[in-house]
Amino acid sequence: MASVKINNQVTIESNASDTLLETMEKAGLEPEYNCRDGHCGACRCKLKAGSVEYVGFAMAFTQPDEILPCICKAKTALEIEEVHYQPKAKRA
Ligand code: FES
Repeated sequence: MASVKINNQVTIESNASDTLLETMEKAGLEPEYNCRDGHCGACRCKLKAGSVEYVGFAMAFTQPDEILPCICKAKTALEIEEVHYQPKAKRA
């Protein structure tokens, strides 16, 4: 378990078996994605602190400080920024 701080707003706990994208979804966030396979870049965000382990092959272009949450897992505690997400809509 490693903590993942998102946009300096929320901190969630990662799980060793989930990608960062899945981790955010399980925490009740709805991050933007499309392919979930490292191709489209829709999930791209900035890695400010910590390190990630890639579990897939990144085809989408990323800057050196950017990561693709759909194909990587947290190796250490992380701080990520510019994550585009919606909190899950509460059911009435
Ligand atoms: S969702 Fe397409 S690269 Fe992550």
